[in-house]
Amino acid sequence: MTWTINDAASQVGRRAIVTGANIGLGYDTALALAGKGCSVVLACRNPAKAQAARASMLARHAGAEIECMALDLSSLKSIRSFADTFARRHDALDLLINNAGIMMPPYSISEDGFESQLAANYLGHFALTGLMLPLLAATRGSRIVSLSSLAHNWGEIRFDDPQFKNGYNKLAAYGQSKLACLMFAYELNRRLQAAGMKTLSVAAHPGVAATNLAQHFPKFLTIFFPLVGQSSADGALPTLYAALGSDIKGGDYCGPRSMGQMRGAPIKVGSNRRSRDEGAARKLWEMSQRLTGVDYAF
Ligand SMILES: NC(=O)c1ccc[n+]([C@@H]2O[C@H](COP(=O)([O-])OP(=O)(O)OC[C@H]3O[C@@H](n4cnc5c(N)ncnc54)[C@H](OP(=O)(O)O)[C@@H]3O)[C@@H](O)[C@H]2O)c1
Repeated sequence: MTWTINDAASQVGRRAIVTGANIGLGYDTALALAGKGCSVVLACRNPAKAQAARASMLARHAGAEIECMALDLSSLKSIRSFADTFARRHDALDLLINNAGIMMPPYSISEDGFESQLAANYLGHFALTGLMLPLLAATRGSRIVSLSSLAHNWGEIRFDDPQFKNGYNKLAAYGQSKLACLMFAYELNRRLQAAGMKTLSVAAHPGVAATNLAQHFPKFLTIFFPLVGQSSADGALPTLYAALGSDIKGGDYCGPRSMGQMRGAPIKVGSNRRSRDEGAARKLWEMSQRLTGVDYAF
């Protein structure tokens, strides 16, 4: 059976955070959630872009509850400030959609000393999730969705040089960050279950979707995304399925069904052996706690 957004229950009375919601997959994820009646927080680094996205969403779903909040995932200071503000304003969180990301930019180091893709795609979301966990744990039926990619196959976790200080390979760095997101989703679920907590941690990938993500590609390669891939709205469906599907279990990974998972309807998919290495996942967890200073206490 093909899952569509029509299969999802009403989300009235529930609240979601979508990171990087001003454009692309995050925008389409937030739009669909708002269409289901969910109160949505657009967690974005650029306030003007977030407000423009909010206005565009309200034009589609008049009366929807959509709030913009500043969040730069490449800054631990910004993440802590976001979490504090959110906790002051709200006493529950049903869905945390860890969507924001960048792909293959020129080398740079974040203000916290992290390679930019590891910072924005992975470590930022690791820190954010840890800080939001008390609220998620207190909310019945809550889920955390982490965005990975087919590119998790390109990477390994370079425990000896995670920040690429000894030579930058932008493809390997993107692969590392997306592998880390997937290992994190699985490891978090194992730890939640071991602690007897009901919050689900799941993962999703969009296949190939025509978005702004390819902005750092050579021009001739940017035609690849719209040619092979699907629309941003279709690319958001695996995320939505992971977040809202009634048959989803903790530790599931969702992606498109067709063309080697590059496009098509959302289904549960598998991932490579490296992503399922529990010893490496524990090591990554310890490293992430140390680097971010966020202690999950389990
Ligand atoms: N498109 C694909 O084919 C594809 C394939 C596999 C996985 N993915 C994953 O899907 C997710 C969404 O990507 P997309 O395709 O929708 O890309 P996109 O159109 O480029 O959107 C990325 C979003 O992330 C935001 N962002 C980037 N760095 C941020 C930071 N430091 N703090 C807060 N927000 C930040 C961007 O904000 P600005 O607008 O301010 O830059 C934007 O809102 C990413 O995790 C990506 O790895 C995409």
